[in-house]
Order: sequence, then C-alpha cells, then structure tokens
Amino acid sequence: MVYDNVVLIGFMGSGKTSVGRILARELFKDFKDVDTIIEERENASVTEIFEKKGEAYFRDLEQKCINELTEKKGQIIATGGGLPIFSSLSEKSLIIYMDADFDVILKRLSKREREKRPLLADETRARALFEERKDTYKELAAFSVDANQRIVVFIHVIRDYILDQRVL
Ligand code: S3P
Repeated sequence: MVYDNVVLIGFMGSGKTSVGRILARELFKDFKDVDTIIEERENASVTEIFEKKGEAYFRDLEQKCINELTEKKGQIIATGGGLPIFSSLSEKSLIIYMDADFDVILKRLSKREREKRPLLADETRARALFEERKDTYKELAAFSVDANQRIVVFIHVIRDYILDQRVL
C-alpha cells in the first residue's frame, strides 16, 4: 500500500501537534494542523466556535478540512481528538494513534492548555469521553505508539515506522 499522508490521531493532549511538527521537519514533509487551520479560517478559537456556532458546526468544518487536506500528498497531519470519531478518513492515509493514558494527559496539560479545550472542562465527562473513544482510535490506526513518556523517548519509534512504509 502506498500512502498519501500520515494522519496522527488520539485524545486531546496526547501530543499530536508537537509530534507532527517534529516528524514533518525530520522527514521533510509539510506539517498541517486541522484545529489551527479551522481557527485561522473562522478567525476564532475552537472554544469560541463551540460557544457561538455549536459543536456540530465545528465537526462539519473538520470533515471539510480533512477532505481538502487529503486531496494533497506528502503531509503530516495532526487532527483534533474528535476528528476520527466524527469524520471519515481517506484510506490512503497512514493513521497513527498516539496512545496516552487519561491521567498522563491531565498531568501534562497546563490549566491554560485545558481551557483551550471545551470538552476537557468537566473532568468526569472528559474521562468518560476518553473511555468511549479509545478503542475506536486503536481500531482506526495502522500503528499505535505508547505516548505516555516524553516525546523524545518515543518519537523515533513513529519515525522508524513511517520510514518502513511507503508514504509519498
Ligand atoms: C476535540 C479536540 C480538540 C479540538 C476540540 C475538540 C475533541 O483538539 O478539536 O476542542 O473532540 O476531542 P486536540 O485534540 O488537539 O486538543
């Protein structure tokens, strides 16, 4: 199988954006972050979009954005945590799951980082969401990486996996 793009999936705060940026630099690919693209287009933060237009509107933007992005090739794409749950992904995407535990994620995120994510506001509900989604992430992914440690510890595992695959 020849893949067009690498798509990183996983729960909020699992490190998709940071890892994607590093991988893109190391592998000479373009880096794209779906949340950032949506925020720029809407000229509003994700929190503002959720508040003013609602989650369904945001999910629609996500599907449109990932469809547009995957028309091109050779990119490392970081998705929002809900994107693979609500949107369908191209079969030509090499999907990698950043598998981090909920408690690790909570510890990792500063208060400010948590506030950027409306679905993390209530810890009990966020934990339930995590439990609800984790099996789907794993099922969708061609490869899962243990993302509980610091990025420097596991980034080479993802890089080596990608290099073993045929990604344009
Ligand atoms: C969401 C994750 C967020 C962002 C939005 C919704 C989710 O992205 O898209 O707040 O449903 O899990 P990150 O995974 O980058 O935090």
